[in-house]
Amino acid sequence: MTATFDFSGKTVFVAGGTSGINLGIARCFARSGAAVAVASRSQEKVDAAVAELETLGSTARGYALDVRDAKAVQEAFAAHAEAAGEIDVLVSGAAGNFPAFANDMSPNGFKAVVDIDLLGSFHVLRAAYAFLRKPGASVINISAPQAWVAMPMQSHVCAAKAGVDMLTRTLALEWGAAGIRINSISPGPIADTEGMKRLAPNEAVAEQYRKSVPLQRFGTADEIGQAALFLSSDAARYVSGVVLPVDGGWSVAGASAAALAMTQSHERG
Ligand code: NAP
Ligand code: COA
Repeated sequence: MTATFDFSGKTVFVAGGTSGINLGIARCFARSGAAVAVASRSQEKVDAAVAELETLGSTARGYALDVRDAKAVQEAFAAHAEAAGEIDVLVSGAAGNFPAFANDMSPNGFKAVVDIDLLGSFHVLRAAYAFLRKPGASVINISAPQAWVAMPMQSHVCAAKAGVDMLTRTLALEWGAAGIRINSISPGPIADTEGMKRLAPNEAVAEQYRKSVPLQRFGTADEIGQAALFLSSDAARYVSGVVLPVDGGWSVAGASAAALAMTQSHERG
C-alpha cells in the first residue's frame, strides 16, 4: 500500500521489528521516509530486515538483543542514540506465545512469556525514555486481544498483555508532561504471522477465526502499520493512553462471535 503519512527526517525504533506484524510496521515507516531501526534476538533476522528496509529507501539500523536482558537493551539504545540521535517513534512489540493449558504449563513457560512481553516491554520503554524526543515522541506498545478477552491456553499471554496495556496507561500519565504520547495497538488475527500459525495451526481453526471477525477476514501486517503511522502522526497529536483495536471489529464481537458465525449461514434479506 502507498504511504499515507510523511515521516521524512524522523527516526523510528521497532523493538521486535524483524518479522511479522512488527516488520510490517517497520516497512510502513520506511516507505514513509523514516530512518528505521529494528531489534531482536536473531542476528540473521536483524540483518535480513535491515537489508529489506534499505531497499525501501530507509537508512536502516539493526541490533541483536534479547529484551529480557535489561543491560543489552540499554546498550542498544545508547548505541542507537550515538548513531541516529533522538527517537521520534518507538514501537515495542517483541513477544512470545505458545498454546498451553495453565495446568500443563511449567512455571518457566509462564515466566518466559511474561518476561518477554511484559518485563521486556518495561526494559525497552525504560531504556528508550532518555532518548525519546521531548516534546513530540510517539510510543506504541503492541498489545493483543488477550489483554481484555480471556482465552483458553493463553493464561501467560493474557496476563502479560493486560500488563502491557496498563503500562501504556500508566506511562501516558507519567510521560504526558514531557510531551510524549503512548498508546497500544491491539491487532486482531493477522495473516501470515507466527502468532496465527501457533493459534490457528490448521485451516479449520483458521476458518473459525475468520468467521468470528465482523469483517470476515484476517488483517494484514500493513493494516497494523497504517494504524501505527496514524497514531504517530500529527493527526493523532491529542491521542494518548488508549488501546486501539485494529481488528476488523473483533473487539465488539465478544460473546456474539458464535452468533456471527450463525448469521453467516443464513441468507441476508
Ligand atoms: P513474530 O513474527 O514472531 O514477531 C515477534 C518478534 O519479536 C520477532 O521479530 C522476534 O524476533 C522478536 N522477539 C521474540 N522474542 C524476543 C526477545 N526475547 N527479545 C527480542 N526480540 C524478540 O510474531 P507476530 O505474530 O508478528 O507478533 C508480533 C506482535 O504482534 C507481538 O507483540 C504479538 O503479541 C502481537 N500480536 C500478534 C497477532 C497475530 O495475529 N499474529 C495478534 C495480536 C497481537 P527474534 O526471533 O529474532 O527474537
Ligand atoms: N508448550 C508448553 N511449554 C512450552 C512450549 C509449548 N509449546 N514452548 C516452550 N515451552 C516452555 C519450555 O518447556 C520452557 O519451560 P521449562 O524450562 O520448564 O521446560 C519455557 O517454555 C521456555 O522455553 P525456551 O524454549 O527455553 O524459551 P525461549 O526463551 O527460547 O523461547 C518462547 C521463548 C517459548 C516464547 C518461544 O516460543 C519463542 O521464542 N517465541 C518467539 C516467536 C513467537 O512466539 N511469535 C509469536 C508472537 S505472538
